Amino acid sequence: MTILVTGGAGYIGSHTVVELQQAGYDVVVVDNLSNSSEVSLQRVEKITGKPVKFYKADILDREALEDIFAKESIQCCIHFAGLKAVGESVQKPWEYYYNNISGTLILLDVMRKHNVKNMIFSSSATVYGNPAFIPITEECPKGEITNPYGQTKGMLEQILTDMQKADPEWNVILLRYFNPIGAHKSGMIGENPNGVPNNLMPYITQVAVGKLKELGVFGNDYDTPDGTGVRDYIHVVDLARGHVKAIKKIEENPGLEIYNLGTGVGYSVLDIVKNFEEASGVKIPYVIKPRRAGDIATCYSDASKAKRELGWEAEYGIKEMCEDSWRWQKQNPNGYAE
Ligand code: NAD
Ligand code: UD1
Repeated sequence: MTILVTGGAGYIGSHTVVELQQAGYDVVVVDNLSNSSEVSLQRVEKITGKPVKFYKADILDREALEDIFAKESIQCCIHFAGLKAVGESVQKPWEYYYNNISGTLILLDVMRKHNVKNMIFSSSATVYGNPAFIPITEECPKGEITNPYGQTKGMLEQILTDMQKADPEWNVILLRYFNPIGAHKSGMIGENPNGVPNNLMPYITQVAVGKLKELGVFGNDYDTPDGTGVRDYIHVVDLARGHVKAIKKIEENPGLEIYNLGTGVGYSVLDIVKNFEEASGVKIPYVIKPRRAGDIATCYSDASKAKRELGWEAEYGIKEMCEDSWRWQKQNPNGYAE
């Protein structure tokens, strides 16, 4: 079976390509490299010992997509391609709506023209907003989304749901990721943010290698055990394996399904600092800062539906997540840049 992976050179995409190749799938990657490097795919090839078929193309480029679908016998698409920085999306809403929404609409149109109606979509726990209840099940109502990035996820979920309803030949799986961290055990691929990281773990690892001075902890007055924000961190390799399970589900023609991909365990910012220090042996200096706009106190999943229906559950704990994030950062202090 040939899987089209859009955004396959990125953080989650590259780890997913490894797991797909190791599970015996043929993979075709499309990425415009706007937030990634082709080096990640060369590293994937080293890990799996298999070549990765790569097209440097934009999903907004209909002709390029038509060409790829004409050449390759694609049966299913895992759609990672998109812009994902929350803060930047507030500054550049048009760019986010155009890239994420228009790009996906074009991709879907080319897919249906080529009669490829199997789609696994990267969504986010951000669609729950400030969650109505914890742990969050898939039945939790969608909440108020406070930024354009998150809006694109909510809107694309709706578009995919409506298209599947109108044409039941479509199989659509919406995967709602909690907070992916960690890296491949080899330390060869990992998260490679541009500029100063916005997310917690890449910020911590850059403090650890001395690129940043200290961590700012955004608020210690939340209603949580130690006052800092609690999240459901999930190892990116577990997340990647969730996609392999989702493909197996797609082969059963499920129609539309939604799954949370998380561990079901919440850790605070200070828990992460402590676990990272233990895993790396490096002290992480931090200062308490005001709350960050748009943040919520607590967010963690009930991931039992994925366990029941996909036979998937996270295997790695916080220790491996911290060790593997650290190995990647230590071996690649400048990411994929030489
Ligand atoms: P990433 O930026 O590393 O990967 C996204 C990839 O898409 C990049 O390689 C980028 O170059 C590519 N891309 C962007 N626009 C494109 C376009 N128009 N045409 C072709 N390629 C394009 O991000 P990631 O962390 O790997 O995230 C993958 C997906 O998962 C994204 O859709 C993201 O919104 C979603 N997601 C990520 C997280 C997270 O914490 N990392 C959480 C929830 C959901
Ligand atoms: C954020 C996005 C979410 C996106 C996810 C992955 C928001 C509101 N949500 O989730 O939409 O899917 O990233 O890209 O931006 N923290 C610090 N100091 C830092 C960085 C973070 O204290 O320098 C804290 C945050 O306040 C939060 C926790 O660490 O409590 C995790 O933050 P982060 O890694 O940015 O993820 P989320 O905010 O959960």
